[in-house]
Amino acid sequence: MATTTERPLADALTAIKTRRSVKEYNQTEIPREWIEELLDAAHWAPNHKLTHPWRFHVFTGEGRERLVAARQAAVRSAAERKGEQVSEDALNFARAKCFSSPVVIIVSMVGDEKKIVDQENYAACWCAIENLLVAANARGLGSYPSTGDWIDQNFVGPVLGLTEKERPVACIFLGYSEQKTMAKRLPVERHTTWYTEP
Ligand SMILES: Cc1cc2nc3c(=O)[nH]c(=O)nc-3n(C[C@H](O)[C@H](O)[C@H](O)COP(=O)(O)O)c2cc1C
Repeated sequence: MATTTERPLADALTAIKTRRSVKEYNQTEIPREWIEELLDAAHWAPNHKLTHPWRFHVFTGEGRERLVAARQAAVRSAAERKGEQVSEDALNFARAKCFSSPVVIIVSMVGDEKKIVDQENYAACWCAIENLLVAANARGLGSYPSTGDWIDQNFVGPVLGLTEKERPVACIFLGYSEQKTMAKRLPVERHTTWYTEP
């Protein structure tokens, strides 16, 4: 396994622009302090009124088994809604996803009864997620954020012991990856308007 002294560290703009979502990981373990560094980067995200709305739930090794039932429950529920029996393939895929990267981080948030605060907290969580993804890329690690029924419909809530006020925001897959990726973005000029005159 690589040691801390061998770790890359890309500059911010390079890390932002070369970050890509990857889905194929090798199972090389990521030392806990490396993950902690990424969580710390996430923690420095902007958050209005310093609500620190994010909660990080880190699953590694056999700990990932805890996620399987939640992800399978989401798949089962989706099949039932269509009046179908869930297939073994779908259940196996759900299990495999939980073990597809050596580190799986579920980000949950503390909501708020005031809509605007709730919205800001949710936005801050995604700022934190992006920080983590970019920091991971700067350190040579692959990642991708995902949502889906098991997050959006809170199937994962019981695994995390979420209270009424909390809800899941995203699942981050993290690990070393050799997957080839292709950047896809339209030119930013298409989405920009400049106002330079009164
Ligand atoms: C809010 C949000 C939800 C996402 N959910 C999923 C998901 O459920 N499954 C998935 O494969 N990718 C998901 N992604 C990743 C995007 O598909 C990915 O960022 C996009 O294709 C652009 O590719 P890039 O990340 O390589 O630039 C999500 C991204 C965001 C911001």
